[in-house]
Amino acid sequence: MKNALDFTGKVVLVTGGGGGIGRGIAEAFDRCGAQVVVAEIDPVRADATRSALGKTSRVAVTDVRDSAAVDALLHEVASSYGRLDVLVNNVGDFLGIVKPLEEYADADFDALFAVNLRQVFQVTRSSLPLMKQTGSGGSVISVSSIEAFRGIPMNVVYSAFKAGITGFTKSLALELGPSGIRVNAIAPETTESEQVKPSAWIPEQYQEHIARWLPLGRFGTPADAAGCALFLASELAGWITGTTIHLDGGALAAGGWYRTPQGGWTNVPVINGNGMRF
Ligand SMILES: NC(=O)c1ccc[n+]([C@@H]2O[C@H](COP(=O)([O-])OP(=O)(O)OC[C@H]3O[C@@H](n4cnc5c(N)ncnc54)[C@H](O)[C@@H]3O)[C@@H](O)[C@H]2O)c1
Repeated sequence: MKNALDFTGKVVLVTGGGGGIGRGIAEAFDRCGAQVVVAEIDPVRADATRSALGKTSRVAVTDVRDSAAVDALLHEVASSYGRLDVLVNNVGDFLGIVKPLEEYADADFDALFAVNLRQVFQVTRSSLPLMKQTGSGGSVISVSSIEAFRGIPMNVVYSAFKAGITGFTKSLALELGPSGIRVNAIAPETTESEQVKPSAWIPEQYQEHIARWLPLGRFGTPADAAGCALFLASELAGWITGTTIHLDGGALAAGGWYRTPQGGWTNVPVINGNGMRF
């Protein structure tokens, strides 16, 4: 039987694949035989990723907010590889903006829109002609956030744009159903990355509580997201479109419930202080 996670001969574009979750996803597809194209804004991360990927993969220093640069990259993908099977819209950033809505400047709204939603529209728009021409079905996967499905104080705008990915995913899935291109999203809970560092943000004295904060007892890793992306892109998910995987160690199911040190349950946090230096 063919290994459903063998992506040999497939071309996969990963935005922001130079760090964190995107890097984990890019490396996983590369290991599974795909030719991976990474669009990464940071030249240093791009170099490091280039040396971690196989020879047939490539890393382009590209700002995905720049639609001309994205179009140019897609032309290069078409001329070098002649196909595109999977697009992973991974770029997204809360830009370190943590404050009440009244304190947002117009520039904050614009910057958060550009990096969390507008570029998802642009990159997908530029990728679809080649995906359709490839005719292999194809898969668009966007990295959302568990915060698209629950509230997050002081991060209202970021979470609203992540919730926008849910609507984008559902509507585009309908539009692309007839061409066999599936459209899904992954919504991670806190995951160790360049941008989010629970290991550094949670003071030493609170780290012992981590095992009780999430039902599966730990924060996420880029490898967790990579597993979801491989599954969604594979034939194993051949009848899945328009949906989001909650990649959250059970956090959404738990709501505000935590295990107590005695092994029971409480909906009152069992820590002093605010837990994270954030
Ligand atoms: N890490 C988490 O806890 C977490 C939780 C929920 C959702 N997410 C989402 O997962 C995705 C990845 O997050 P992460 O934590 O791995 O981020 P990260 O910042 O660690 O990695 C993102 C990568 O994208 C690159 N990048 C940023 N802007 C870019 C641009 N304009 N063009 C090209 N490349 C760009 C960065 O240089 C970096 O290498 C984001 O969409 C984020 O919102 C992350």
